[in-house]
Amino acid sequence: MSRYPRPFLKWAGNKHRSLDRILPRLPAGERLIEPFAGAAAVTLAADYPAYRLVDSNPDLIGLFRAVRDGGEAFIQRARALFEDGNDADLYYARRAAFNAEADPVERAALFLYLNRHGYNGLCRYNRRGGFNVPFGRHARPYFPERELAAFARQAREREVDLAVGDFETELDAARPGDVVYCDPPYAPLSTTADFTAYAPGPFADDAQARLAAAARRAAERGVPVVISNHDTPVVREYYRDADLDSFPVARTISRQGDSRRPVAEVLALFA
Ligand SMILES: C[S@@+](CC[C@H](N)C(=O)[O-])C[C@H]1O[C@@H](n2cnc3c(N)ncnc32)[C@H](O)[C@@H]1O
Repeated sequence: MSRYPRPFLKWAGNKHRSLDRILPRLPAGERLIEPFAGAAAVTLAADYPAYRLVDSNPDLIGLFRAVRDGGEAFIQRARALFEDGNDADLYYARRAAFNAEADPVERAALFLYLNRHGYNGLCRYNRRGGFNVPFGRHARPYFPERELAAFARQAREREVDLAVGDFETELDAARPGDVVYCDPPYAPLSTTADFTAYAPGPFADDAQARLAAAARRAAERGVPVVISNHDTPVVREYYRDADLDSFPVARTISRQGDSRRPVAEVLALFA
């Protein structure tokens, strides 16, 4: 069992299993900012006086907000959705309800349900913004009660700020005392192996270059920035003036035909 709190969401690229590598590389500071929050494995495990989680996906941030602001009442609401069965018809009815839902708390509870009952914990939308992940056929979807309660407690005891936004604006707004950990959709290992579709819109090479430039600007203002990525020649070129630490990891999501062989990841410190 891990000694770190586990995320309540299943999320592609979640960093729970890399925490022993990442946490020692994060400098001390007054506030940790994660501009690519995802399931926020690092924020849940790192010890800072305050946190800020930002992501371009409004459903994700809406769920964190519902847990932070609703605490136990929200957890009980979400639990009810997990109690009345796990079959495909119910899943598709709830997916349709989610796509039509306007109430932020109800939408957040449904988002958690879809995350645990959908295929592989994927988060994918069609062109019109509708969530379209198929049913997951999981034997017994887990209701992450302890994990939700742990985040609700963290948000009661420390300041946890949440926002929907873009990484570049966030990095440019960081001020001395902040430490920024960035876990972007990764650069492709090869041109046929890209897996960068988390939210509408691709995370292209241009965005990888903008991220490196924004990290450099933040470091010049006295804000240390740590970035995770695949260790490839292109990524090393983006991060050429950072302090690099490279290590092998087991892949958690792989495509058909792509065996789960270890790939190298890099942690870049701009300071
Ligand atoms: C690899 S995941 C982060 C995983 C996270 N570290 C964890 O432990 O679960 C990348 C995240 O970046 C978000 N994202 C993609 N493009 C973004 C952008 N331009 N600005 C902010 N967030 C973005 C995605 O929605 C996704 O949640």
